[in-house]
Amino acid sequence: RTVYVNGRFLPYEEASIPIMDRGFLFADGIYEVSAVLGGRLVDNEAHLARLDRSLGAIGIRNPHDAAGWTRLQEELIARNGLTEGGVYLQVTRGVAERDFAFPPAGVEPTVVMFTQAKTIANNPLADRGATVVSVEDLRWKRRDIKSVALLAQVLAKQQAAEAGAAEAWMHEDGFVTEGGSSTAFIITEDGRIVTRPLSTAILPGITRRAVLRLAEEAGLTIEERPFSLEEAFAAAEAFFTSASAFVMPVIEIDGRRIGGGQPGPLTRRLRGLYLEMAA
Ligand code: PDD
Repeated sequence: RTVYVNGRFLPYEEASIPIMDRGFLFADGIYEVSAVLGGRLVDNEAHLARLDRSLGAIGIRNPHDAAGWTRLQEELIARNGLTEGGVYLQVTRGVAERDFAFPPAGVEPTVVMFTQAKTIANNPLADRGATVVSVEDLRWKRRDIKSVALLAQVLAKQQAAEAGAAEAWMHEDGFVTEGGSSTAFIITEDGRIVTRPLSTAILPGITRRAVLRLAEEAGLTIEERPFSLEEAFAAAEAFFTSASAFVMPVIEIDGRRIGGGQPGPLTRRLRGLYLEMAA
């Protein structure tokens, strides 16, 4: 397995990061995950644009432009012979003596990339449908930044795992914010697709954006508004989206069956449209 660290491709076993890295000490960094299907990156320009925005929001210089990132990602995919899965990349504020405020000028960001093989298109869970549990959203107030500080999601998804569920849906003031690592959607009895509008309360999902565009092109009705857990329990269909799951049907939330416990027809259609787009 070949990984990328600060300008070098090297065997995973030989890769290391100094213990004073601010990503390790403060979770002071940003990450991105782009899907790979048929050996090719999916919607990668949008992921790189979000990376640039996240880095800018916390004052880390983006070490590469989009073309530079893409070259590195593609070389890593080729070196690993990856056909399906994802490319993870992370940029931290670099290595410096432990001090909360930013390090002195001249400290360069740390860049790490690795690939992960995963079956996304023919994932059997997408045929069965996923179960979800709700957990309180314990995160900070800038969830639009794709920060590597993921402790709240680690705890949320551990709770889901212990319940045998594939994802946690986080909620705040009775309303669903998003999944632990995905965007949450429901579909009403009359076929309206509901998802929370973009704000600092959620990550602007790249898959979310693509799915909304595909839904619009298919003439489906979209409602960008917060929805409550109660409304989700009573929804005709539910699903979540992410670069690592694409469109994943939800058949159960907190033990309550959604849409008869089967992936819903509109959800299946959206998954099909997304797969067509990504192929
Ligand atoms: N997670 N919301 C959160 C909190 C996320 O962590 C993610 C992605 C999404 C979906 O975004 P996108 O469609 O751009 O993947 C929404 C990645 C996949 C992860 O943490 O592994």
